[in-house]
Amino acid sequence: MMKIALAKGRLLDPSIKLFESLGYDLRGARDSRKLVIDDAAHGARFLIAKPMDVPIYVEYGAADAGIVGQDALREGSVNVYEPLVLDYGHCRLVVAGKPEYQNAEWRLLAGLRVATKYPRVTRQYFTARGLSSEIIEVYGSVELAPMVGLADLIVDVVDTGRTLRENGLVELDEIFKSQAAFIVNRAAHTLRVDEIRGLIEKIDGTRTNADERG
Ligand code: PRP
Repeated sequence: MMKIALAKGRLLDPSIKLFESLGYDLRGARDSRKLVIDDAAHGARFLIAKPMDVPIYVEYGAADAGIVGQDALREGSVNVYEPLVLDYGHCRLVVAGKPEYQNAEWRLLAGLRVATKYPRVTRQYFTARGLSSEIIEVYGSVELAPMVGLADLIVDVVDTGRTLRENGLVELDEIFKSQAAFIVNRAAHTLRVDEIRGLIEKIDGTRTNADERG
């Protein structure tokens, strides 16, 4: 069976739709809380995992392939093959903070505390600018941190910008843009070359329609 890890959360629904459009049966992923969904007819096993864990499952070969956001991929810094970027899951990783920091010189941001789910990318970003900062890792609702004095700034993904706005935060800088990506375990890419190549071609053939479906 080909094992394919799908990221939970925002990417799950469009990822399910993508595979359904290829004829796979993922009803179990919609109707239950099962984390393993088998489609024996297609020789596929889908693993439903937390976004940050998908690259790990794929790197270690517990999954042959997966769909995950490039944000989680860069944070994980894993050694996987990334043959295809998909046309959904668009968002941006940004630095944000209270409006008082909007026009602050960068050097004034030195020494500030930064809350994030992306400690590795955040450290790289601030280090590259010669800014020391204390990085506080939180697991969600990052926008809460500046409101209650846990941190001065945040690094987080922005989609519509609504969460920032409704919590009185403004974007200070964009770190990178992100979208969903199809990733493949390096060994599987060699050992199951025909299956993997076939799947890549099928996904590639449908992805221009994914935004309309998603
Ligand atoms: C993400 C992100 C922001 C929000 C951005 O959180 O961390 O909080 O979405 O979306 P917006 O710009 O459209 O408002 P998510 O809902 O995935 O949950 P989490 O905070 O628990 O990780």
